[in-house]
Amino acid sequence: MDIPFIDLRTQYQQIKEELNRALNRTLDRGDFILGKEVRLFEEEFARYCRTKFAVGVNSGTDALFLGLLSLGVGKSDEVIVPAFTFIATALAVSFIGARVVFVDIDEDTYNINVEKIERAVTKRTKVILPVHLFGQPADMKSILNIAKKYNLKVIEDCAQSHGAEYKFKVQSSKLKVQKVGSLGDIGCFSFYPTKNLGAFGDGGMILMNKKEVYKKLLMLRDCGRKSKYEHKILGYNSRLDTIQAAVLRVKLKHLDKWNRLRRKKAKLYSELLKDTDVIIPKEKDYGTHIYHIYAIRVKNRNKVLGILKKKGINVLIHYPIPLHLQKVYKNLGYKRGDFPVAEKVSGEIISLSIHPHLEEEKIQYIVDTLKQALLKK
Ligand SMILES: Cc1ncc(COP(=O)(O)O)c(C=O)c1O
Repeated sequence: MDIPFIDLRTQYQQIKEELNRALNRTLDRGDFILGKEVRLFEEEFARYCRTKFAVGVNSGTDALFLGLLSLGVGKSDEVIVPAFTFIATALAVSFIGARVVFVDIDEDTYNINVEKIERAVTKRTKVILPVHLFGQPADMKSILNIAKKYNLKVIEDCAQSHGAEYKFKVQSSKLKVQKVGSLGDIGCFSFYPTKNLGAFGDGGMILMNKKEVYKKLLMLRDCGRKSKYEHKILGYNSRLDTIQAAVLRVKLKHLDKWNRLRRKKAKLYSELLKDTDVIIPKEKDYGTHIYHIYAIRVKNRNKVLGILKKKGINVLIHYPIPLHLQKVYKNLGYKRGDFPVAEKVSGEIISLSIHPHLEEEKIQYIVDTLKQALLKK
């Protein structure tokens, strides 16, 4: 059996009519730059995540970069970032010239370890930048408390967590549920095609509740414009493409259903793997994991990878090298041993295929093969 890691073609086939109608409508209208579809998608996405404002941009990386700029982060500032994430989280900080300060991750959730954040705070710290990695919310209550204590901003990297929810305990039994991206000062999303909400190319979104930040971001993403040829601030060209917005408006209507299906597939994997040596994802009661990635850990990864490959099973590794050991960050002076959990996890982790259209017999085949691989000495 040949099992690809991701299957975007089935998704397209299932909603082809809706998508084609939306694309034709946009092509007929011809408003290709910041057209009606962008405005409507911004409104709909803000409503979905329950924030006041949304600004569509060119990518998740730009969402982070422009989001940091909009909060006034500059060269003399420090930004706290988990040592284990996709590199764009840190690159956005470095592109501004601010200093990335890495913090180790929690071994259960792979998200930033909130116990270790305070140690990394200095006089220069301006922002904590948690990532809701693989689709599981970071421990936002603790992060927001630390931010309040030290007067820091919080930017959420939601590139892998569209629709994931965080549950605050308000009274002993009552919960206040919020979508990720609405918890910090700014929420940043990527619509890279393989994401839970993916475009047909690059795309990103920034969410916020403050009007002045919103107004600044409208200019930052569009050449610093106040009007067509009036440029008020140093801006950039990072507009969400109108065609992508039309696609995303259609897909947003399916997101909750797709996330439920992902959770169902994850539950099946976890059930089938529960009595093995494989470390399966651990869900925290404060969040709803939407399984952008179903990550497992094994001790003898190379051998397991070889056997899965031989049996036609495509897997990926998110991520094989923690960020503090990446060449690009050599100048920061970190060394092996600085973030032991990130280092251990990056040596053991494997992402198994998960998407809303993955058939149960394929999950069974992947698990059976994995079990055989674990038995081989
Ligand atoms: C955690 C995280 N942050 C940021 C990004 C950057 O998003 P993009 O690829 O849209 O620039 C990604 C996407 O791959 C991501 O996974």
